[in-house]
Amino acid sequence: MPDGHPEQPMIDGKEIARAAALLRAGRLVAFPTETVYGLGADATNGTAVAGIFAAKNRPSFNPLIAHVPDLAAARDLVTFDDLAERLAMRFWPGALTLVLPRRDTCPVAEICSAGLDTLAVRVPAGEIAQALLRAVGRPVAAPSANPSGRLSPTTAAHVISGLGDRVAMVLDGGPCPVGVESTVIGVFDGQAVLLRPGGLAVEEIEAIAGTLSRPSGDPDAPASPGMLASHYAPASALRLNATAAEPGETLLGFGPDAPPGPNLSPSGDLAEAAANLFQVLHSIDRGETGRIAVMPIPDHGLGLAINDRLTRAAAPRDG
Ligand code: TXA
Ligand code: MG
Repeated sequence: MPDGHPEQPMIDGKEIARAAALLRAGRLVAFPTETVYGLGADATNGTAVAGIFAAKNRPSFNPLIAHVPDLAAARDLVTFDDLAERLAMRFWPGALTLVLPRRDTCPVAEICSAGLDTLAVRVPAGEIAQALLRAVGRPVAAPSANPSGRLSPTTAAHVISGLGDRVAMVLDGGPCPVGVESTVIGVFDGQAVLLRPGGLAVEEIEAIAGTLSRPSGDPDAPASPGMLASHYAPASALRLNATAAEPGETLLGFGPDAPPGPNLSPSGDLAEAAANLFQVLHSIDRGETGRIAVMPIPDHGLGLAINDRLTRAAAPRDG
């Protein structure tokens, strides 16, 4: 299938197949979409997704977009209400990302949604992205392929200069036609919310969805409950840098010296710990009456992002 088109000589089917095999093996591959280049990993492989954060040097775990080739593949991951369905039918493939409720059976690793019960999904346009996603046969998590804090890349040369030594492969599809990231829309209880302006004009979306609500800039003051990127935190209180559990606490271990019980990474591997973080927190969350004592996590590499998330989760809350 990707062999085709004499007008598009830049990538052949063999390169697509090699990129797909690398992704399936847990490696990182940068690939062009119509908006910007993405730094891709197998979204069902938590350790591979953790590798994205490490490569970008991201100090925190923002939720990522899961890329799929079509609406049918998106339906396996999230649920669509009528409005989400209409938006997807009208704008996919294209520069629209929809944040929707995860299905119970969603195979995407929790680190991809940063522990939230929603997932951002997108069907990118562009022959290479489409061919790659079909060849991988799994959802691909991909933020923009730039180091944290740098501009989003719109050519393969941008990717190589920023991340060249940290990816297994860069698929070169020439410049991205849209050049800015996708517009991110959340659909919650039949209401569409603009979470990030981007390459698809808000007016076009409003022609279908009506006026979009726009959350205030203050992430601690979400416009409506339960829907924004307010990050997942367990209901149980957290105590950090614990050496042992006090009465009533569950100890969350890290490394080989931890006592038996839940452990983010028995071997002390930070990528594995990152991949496990949200899933383990969910599984040991005992609700508001419980307390989780977390052993120290080294503050380097992915440990920075893990500690960032834990510190936020441990901060006093007002509900
Ligand atoms: O055009 C694009 O969207 C590019 C290409 C590669 O597809 N990707 C991209 O990904 O820009 P990233 O990770 O840089 O931006 C994803 C945006 C972030 O603003 C993130 O907070 C938001 O989507 N997001 C992802 N999942 C979310 C969720 N579950 N709830 C709320 N916001 C979410
Ligand atoms: Mg970005």
